[in-house]
Amino acid sequence: MAYTFFHLIFFILLIPLCSLAQNNGIVPIGSILTANEASNTWLSPSGDFAFGFQQPDDKDLFLLSIWYHNIPQKTVVWYVNSSDSIPRGSTVKLDAQIGLVLRDPQGVQLWSTNAISDQLDHGFMNDTGNFVLKGRDNSSLWESFSFPADTILPLQELETGSVLNSRQSETNFSQGRFSLQFLDNGDLVLTARSLPNTTYDDVVYYNSQTSKPTNTSNSGYRLVFGSRGIISIVNSNNQTEQIGSPTLFPPVAEDYFRATLDSDGILASYYHPRNFTGNQNWTVLWSEPDDICSAAAAETGSGACGYNSICNLVNGRPACECPDGYTLLDPNDKSGSCMPNSTPSCDEVEQGTAGELYDFVVINGTDWPKSDYQIMRPSTEIGCREACLHDCFCAAAIFRNNTCYKKKLPLSNGWTRGILNTVAFLKYRKSDAPPGMEGPSSRPKDRETLIVVESVLLGSSFFLNILLIVAACSGFYLIYKKNMVKSRPNGATNLRYFTYKELVEATNGFKEELGRGSFGIVYKGELQISSKSSGIAVKKLDRVAQDTEKEFRAEVNTIGQTNHKNLVRLLGFCDEGQNRLLVYEYMRNGTLSSFLFTTPKPSWKLRTQIAMGIARGLTYLHEECSTQIIHCDIKPQNILLDDYYNARISDFGMAKLLAMNQSRTLTNIRGTKGYVAPEWFRNTQVTAKVDVYSFGVLLLEIICCRRSVENIESVEEGYAILTDWVWDCFQERRLDTLVENDSEALNDKMMLERFVKVGIWCVQEDSSIRPTMRKVSQMLEGIVEVMVPPCPSPFAS
Ligand SMILES: *[C@@H]1O[C@H](CO)[C@@H](O)[C@H](O)[C@H]1NC(C)=O
Ligand SMILES: *[C@@H]1O[C@H](CO)[C@@H](O)[C@H](O)[C@H]1NC(C)=O
Ligand SMILES: *[C@@H]1O[C@H](CO)[C@@H](O)[C@H](O)[C@H]1NC(C)=O
Ligand SMILES: *[C@@H]1O[C@H](CO)[C@@H](O)[C@H](O)[C@H]1NC(C)=O
Ligand SMILES: *[C@@H]1O[C@H](CO)[C@@H](O)[C@H](O)[C@H]1NC(C)=O
Ligand SMILES: *[C@@H]1O[C@H](CO)[C@@H](O)[C@H](O)[C@H]1NC(C)=O
Ligand SMILES: *[C@@H]1O[C@H](CO)[C@@H](O)[C@H](O)[C@H]1NC(C)=O
Ligand SMILES: *[C@@H]1O[C@H](CO)[C@@H](O)[C@H](O)[C@H]1NC(C)=O
Ligand SMILES: *[C@@H]1O[C@H](CO)[C@@H](O)[C@H](O)[C@H]1NC(C)=O
Ligand SMILES: *[C@@H]1O[C@H](CO)[C@@H](O)[C@H](O)[C@H]1NC(C)=O
Ligand SMILES: *[C@@H]1O[C@H](CO)[C@@H](O)[C@H](O)[C@H]1NC(C)=O
Repeated sequence: MAYTFFHLIFFILLIPLCSLAQNNGIVPIGSILTANEASNTWLSPSGDFAFGFQQPDDKDLFLLSIWYHNIPQKTVVWYVNSSDSIPRGSTVKLDAQIGLVLRDPQGVQLWSTNAISDQLDHGFMNDTGNFVLKGRDNSSLWESFSFPADTILPLQELETGSVLNSRQSETNFSQGRFSLQFLDNGDLVLTARSLPNTTYDDVVYYNSQTSKPTNTSNSGYRLVFGSRGIISIVNSNNQTEQIGSPTLFPPVAEDYFRATLDSDGILASYYHPRNFTGNQNWTVLWSEPDDICSAAAAETGSGACGYNSICNLVNGRPACECPDGYTLLDPNDKSGSCMPNSTPSCDEVEQGTAGELYDFVVINGTDWPKSDYQIMRPSTEIGCREACLHDCFCAAAIFRNNTCYKKKLPLSNGWTRGILNTVAFLKYRKSDAPPGMEGPSSRPKDRETLIVVESVLLGSSFFLNILLIVAACSGFYLIYKKNMVKSRPNGATNLRYFTYKELVEATNGFKEELGRGSFGIVYKGELQISSKSSGIAVKKLDRVAQDTEKEFRAEVNTIGQTNHKNLVRLLGFCDEGQNRLLVYEYMRNGTLSSFLFTTPKPSWKLRTQIAMGIARGLTYLHEECSTQIIHCDIKPQNILLDDYYNARISDFGMAKLLAMNQSRTLTNIRGTKGYVAPEWFRNTQVTAKVDVYSFGVLLLEIICCRRSVENIESVEEGYAILTDWVWDCFQERRLDTLVENDSEALNDKMMLERFVKVGIWCVQEDSSIRPTMRKVSQMLEGIVEVMVPPCPSPFAS
């Protein structure tokens, strides 16, 4: 497979250079390309784009397409979605009468451009990525830009009525389930088709809301892909509205840009450095929607994943998974529907034998909303389970808020949220193979391939990350300001506005104190949310930098737009004169600090999960939310634990809110002794890498269950400072010392070593050596290999 692929690249690289480059993009009538490994291509004058046959899989099938020719990925930007596959030996010809015509080896026509008059003069592969059929008067008779596949390019404009369709998967170019439609009223919408394909019940999971009231007569909308990866909707009055907001701003005008409706339904804008210096890859500039799992949930349809599937949001992307007891309908379609290994039947259940026939898989925090056939209220967890057991229609039951929701197959819109206080019971027949044994057997294998692929790319992503951060720093303030000015059309944060009086009542007059920080005091409160009372944490800010209401609200809005299961959620705020308060969900299990430093040590497994959760949360803050958020004060006191002991980062966004991030004097360092990165003390730019440093210290604390600085004088030399101690132990191969009396960790040597190595990478004095949080996450999860770290402070004597 690899052989043929490189073979292909070899030929693409060599042959066109000698035979076709001098054509300067012009394709004379009568030119023919044949689908095989040695196939020619039609290159644009600069060689940026090529038109021809690609071989997306190792199968004997080809794709007539246009792709970025100068980058190793050969990313496809346009393709012919003929329903018939294109076998080896097929040809495409520029015919004087019908324009481009694609035929299989037997000569049967598979596709053509068709609408060509007898004026055709030549074809032209433009440097913009547009393949144009030119008439004798130099007019354009047909252009690929007018028939987009799943990608749009800079300078490409779409008129209302245009549609992009996602592909089935990265390498299968059959039409997928998702569409982008530019509606006549000026709205840009993303829709999902449910499975199996029906034409009527498309679910809209994103709407740009760029339409104007109909009587203002400013129709004539266009979608414009601007110069730096930004898509805007322009109406006839030349008013523009931008779609999506970039999370970072490193690209330069020379970069390659594209926006693609990916096979998972995410519309993403990407850029790629033009000058090939090794192993760069496409980087996401912005994407929509933020949370496709919940956005695509509707009364009908299967949601972002197939039926009976569970949608988890991973790095802003939907990851679909079959629950235990279910397997993929089509093993090649990972985001497709799942089928139950057994279906409850009403025939066999007689005389109370249900208990012998069936049992349940119990999953916390997962729900399939909007598909209940019966709701029982009030109910208990046990009552709910029993009710489903003895109901032969019931395939699953959800227990939440003293209510039992019974569900029939197929289950739809499944999603997992740590915060849902929900228990799901999934029925399975005992006589079938017990769940957990059969379904996931394919997973470890996927993992393996992933590891191989990732390790190959290790060097590349590391380089790219550094490049990104450097660029991100320089663009940070710029984009930040930009975002503040522009109010996102769909920036619907569900922040609630509280009056001061309401919060006085909710906290019983600020009676119970939960904690104190550099910003003020946190109080516990109770809130009646539709007759149910739930706990809240109220932060009373005692100094807020933003004087104006507008700035304060803009900041709060930024925090409110974050949505990640490893962040504490902001529910609302109060802003009455000097009274500025933030209202968060209450985390029952307290801080990581009180959890970690206890005897006996908390479980190793739980600790590693907490560490990975924090890493994911920070990755989100740094790279995935609409405005980059640098936390600046990562420490165990600022990590909270929810009901399920998921790590939840709190106090993010405070650095901005308190405007302390610019101050770098020793007396006024944002951050906490023992966790602050060395660059705070130097006159260098403070970047997201300060959080990586603090996370490293925190990670070592989680591993060892000891504080970063112990001021016990009597203990052995070199023990007081955690980072030094860990480095010494690591160098002397005494990792056991770090986790004394912790048999669980001692039995998990591989993971222990990996975690220690990652920790040491993070606390490197030189911030450019520290990995990004995304890399850290991948290393902790074992997706990429962790190399042996250098000494964290090479300059210390
Ligand atoms: C792909 O198919 C759709 C409908 O089947 C069509 O509207 C679109 O123009 C096709 N795209 C190309 C590039 O042929
Ligand atoms: C290539 O595209 C650019 C931008 O649309 C256009 O200005 C130029 O005229 C095109 N070249 C040819 C030869 O059509
Ligand atoms: C056709 O258009 C291209 C670009 O727009 C220009 O370079 C070329 O000279 C034109 N040819 C004729 C014959 O007008
Ligand atoms: C692509 O996916 C479709 C639908 O799942 C399937 O019918 C087709 O065989 C696949 N094509 C290839 C080349 O794998
Ligand atoms: C669903 O897909 C099948 C095969 O892919 C096709 O034959 C059928 O016409 C499609 N149905 C609809 C309603 O689009
Ligand atoms: C559009 O409708 C609004 C109220 O319906 C009216 O006030 C306004 O004058 C109308 N504008 C035009 C251009 O007709
Ligand atoms: C919109 O902009 C185009 C070119 O920038 C210009 O030709 C046109 O007159 C403008 N239209 C209006 C209504 O301002
Ligand atoms: C890319 O390379 C070209 C020549 O090789 C050079 O002129 C150009 O400045 C480079 N661009 C960047 C962004 O490095
Ligand atoms: C680029 O990224 C994509 C998606 O993350 C991945 O599939 C691909 O292998 C990467 N390619 C290179 C050359 O890094
Ligand atoms: C689900 O949560 C409950 C506590 O609410 C816990 O006792 C139980 O072990 C959890 N189950 C799973 C499978 O995580
Ligand atoms: C909990 O159930 C009650 C009815 O028993 C309902 O009024 C309330 O809205 C529910 N609360 C939540 C958070 O769903």
